Amino acid sequence: MKLPEFIGLDIGYSSVKMAQIIFEQGNVPRLMGVGHSEISKPLNILKDEKEKKELADRIRTLKETLLIKTNKCVVALPEAMIFSKIIAVPDLPEDQLEKIIYFEARNHLPIPVEDVNLDHIPIAKKAVDNRTIQQILMIAAPKNIINMYLEIINLAGLEPLALETESLATARAMTYKVDMAQGALVVDFGSKNIAVSIIKGKNVIFSQSIGTGSDALTQAIARDYNIDLRQAEQYKITYGLLQSQLEGKIAKSLLPVMQIINNELNKIINFIKINLPDFAPSEMLLVGEGSLLPGLVTFFNLNLGIPVKLVDPFSILELSDMAKNEMTNFSRPAFTVAIGLALKVE
Ligand SMILES: Nc1ncnc2c1ncn2[C@@H]1O[C@H](COP(=O)(O)OP(=O)(O)OP(=O)(O)O)[C@@H](O)[C@H]1O
Ligand SMILES: [Mg+2]
Repeated sequence: MKLPEFIGLDIGYSSVKMAQIIFEQGNVPRLMGVGHSEISKPLNILKDEKEKKELADRIRTLKETLLIKTNKCVVALPEAMIFSKIIAVPDLPEDQLEKIIYFEARNHLPIPVEDVNLDHIPIAKKAVDNRTIQQILMIAAPKNIINMYLEIINLAGLEPLALETESLATARAMTYKVDMAQGALVVDFGSKNIAVSIIKGKNVIFSQSIGTGSDALTQAIARDYNIDLRQAEQYKITYGLLQSQLEGKIAKSLLPVMQIINNELNKIINFIKINLPDFAPSEMLLVGEGSLLPGLVTFFNLNLGIPVKLVDPFSILELSDMAKNEMTNFSRPAFTVAIGLALKVE
């Protein structure tokens, strides 16, 4: 079913991002409105009605500032709040799979299967000992998280058309114009987490969240040099991993955290190489505002041994004058999820 006009809404840990796209003649996506608003607390730890209303008001105000008329929205669930796992199941028709996945989920989930909404994405079929098995990506979204999202969306006066995971939205933006002929490692460097996924063709076949984000880099600088977070943030943004700056002092502070992130990414790459060799990533695509860290592309290039690209999610879009204006206020890679949501057509 074709979706009516709507906004893509990404409620992140440090800010809310919104984008609206309409499809012009010839199916050209045109960005009508885009914007963000800082938030003080992420959605999953809001304590009371007052805090919920504050966040909802932020969203409502942002929409009004952007002169967006529609109340319909498609919303992203952060990778960090859902569970996903590649599992092997018998090669059965779709209608018989659901039951099996439900029972499988029991073994794999850290919470009761009754408390999640289950979804799955087929990845590949494989012959094992004369029978065929299917590998699928099982996705489980906790019902309490979904309900929290729905509550905030309703409070903001919006009507949800769909909820989907961040990595699905990111994949839509990454593959809008091209299919990935080879596997690609997509890394969304956020403030509190890094959402990692593997995509091939137009499909997500793996996703995971690393519980360290760009804020951990700021904290490392603040701790090492005994300065406040605001100042540490400035050092991070200005000098990052560049050895040539400030005698490499900021880089030195960041390296232990970067090493942790690098190890996690390496583990993921190796897991895919061993278990799904056809999907082994041949490049890394960087999105999220944290990916603007100076020296990051070179760092991953050297340490992961695959080519690394910083992706501009706006490059696939026509821009309205309004959007062009708004875009002077923020950095582009942060909007990949919001744009991916806004590109949903059915
Ligand atoms: N120029 C820059 N260089 C490096 N890091 C940056 C830069 N600008 C912003 N950041 C960092 O990027 C992070 C915010 O990124 P982003 O907006 O993608 O996160 P988020 O979506 O709110 O968080 P999450 O994805 O974890 O929910 C912050 O930690 C911020 O310090
Ligand atoms: Mg984000």
